[in-house]
Amino acid sequence: AERTDVDLALFGALGDLSQRKLFPALYQLDREGLLHEDTRLLGLARQEISLEEFRDKVEASLNKYVKAKELDEQAMTRFLDRLSFITVDFKVAEGYGAIREWCQTATQERPLVVYLAVGANIYGDICRHLQASGSLDEDSRVVVEKPIGYDLESSNVINDAIGEVFPESRVYRIDHYLGKETVQNLIALRFANPLFGTQWNQNHISHVEITVAEKVGIEGRWGYFDEAGQLRDMVQNHLLQLVCLIAMDPPANLDADAIRDEKVKVLKALKPFTDDMLGRDVVRGQYTAGTSDGVSVPGYLDEEGANISSHTETFVAMKTGVSNWRWAGVPFYLRTGKRMPEKLSQIVIHFRQQPHYIFDPDQRALAANKLIIRLQPEEGISLEVLTKDSGLDKGMRLRRGPLALDFNSAFPKARIPDAYERLLLEVMKGQQYLFVRRDEVEHAWRWCDNLISAWKERNELPRRYPAGSWGPVASIAMITQDGRSWYEDY
Ligand code: BG6
Repeated sequence: AERTDVDLALFGALGDLSQRKLFPALYQLDREGLLHEDTRLLGLARQEISLEEFRDKVEASLNKYVKAKELDEQAMTRFLDRLSFITVDFKVAEGYGAIREWCQTATQERPLVVYLAVGANIYGDICRHLQASGSLDEDSRVVVEKPIGYDLESSNVINDAIGEVFPESRVYRIDHYLGKETVQNLIALRFANPLFGTQWNQNHISHVEITVAEKVGIEGRWGYFDEAGQLRDMVQNHLLQLVCLIAMDPPANLDADAIRDEKVKVLKALKPFTDDMLGRDVVRGQYTAGTSDGVSVPGYLDEEGANISSHTETFVAMKTGVSNWRWAGVPFYLRTGKRMPEKLSQIVIHFRQQPHYIFDPDQRALAANKLIIRLQPEEGISLEVLTKDSGLDKGMRLRRGPLALDFNSAFPKARIPDAYERLLLEVMKGQQYLFVRRDEVEHAWRWCDNLISAWKERNELPRRYPAGSWGPVASIAMITQDGRSWYEDY
């Protein structure tokens, strides 16, 4: 395997993302032999703790978040030995000298990857101080997390500040959905299979459905979430990235910019919202008390830290589209929400019906193919096809059934890596195709800002839905008004 010799400095090393996702992902890479033997990991945080305490904390997190059968004592010891820790007040220049010194103790020169697992409001300060302290060189890379800003304007301020220190070719903006195995499979599926390649347009596809449903509520993040809402938290990034990968034209090759150029074209062609679409083609929702797995759970306004009068949405459903030759007239129905009945992320491509139908008139609505791409919980791809129902008494009755590929059972030995493992590996290799380029962020914000300001102008309040349901009734009406329904497993 290709192993890249880098050092990694992680800002916010004691935070939730680092402990829950990043250290477990780095550990997995190490266990698989994908971290270079000389790679060092530097934890940075404001708290005054010793190296020993830091290692203990990381060890405890590995024990908690890595599956027991993947915990291997030797790999664990090797991994913990890579760790160092420095206490830094991120906003104060003086502390950064210690980071430079740590960089200089490397046995050999190697690129530094700086990972900012902290709030975007201090990205600029950190980049500046790193540069001023002499900790960076022309190979250093920076990795940043969403949310990048709150709207186009604030994201520009953040991206400008990063850009003063790091050129775009060394900025890695994470959208962790791009690290998910099945999301990358969209590229393989579309561009390696002639069967799909020829069908992938408005001549053959009637509509596209994307559901990203979460069972959880706000999980102690009320303060952050209430400022953002589901549109900014999920649609601006994850759902639009999925739309891009489904809708983009074939790139000339797999280079980062070839792919990202095509994605940007999709974002530019997204249908803007007009006033008459509000309430009909875009539905905001907010959950009230209900049940999750049979247990009563509070409504959004009764969550810990909540404010009684918030109109923030925890659910959005919308009918949008991509205005170009490939997709003209094909609706994209998107929905995403908290406190849905289950955790489910899936894309359903609905193909058009045959031009002439010869079977039982009652079954006409059935008679089309669907391609279902499941991102979670169980990654898989299935194509719904029609066959003849068996049995002598059935005549030519049709039956739908899946031609299914379930990754876990088809490839039982292959562990499906977490999104962060893939993403960290690509950063270390210096490959940007799974990261979001600045103009993608900008176009995505422009489109969302337009909707948010329309909501504001019209004072569009969220509709209520009980926790544990599939969202406000209006989101069902939104699709049934077109004679369609949200896909359900059968
Ligand atoms: C994050 C959002 O980006 O994605 C969270 O901020 C959300 O609100 C999470 O819960 C969902 O990610 P996943 O991988 O669990 O679908």
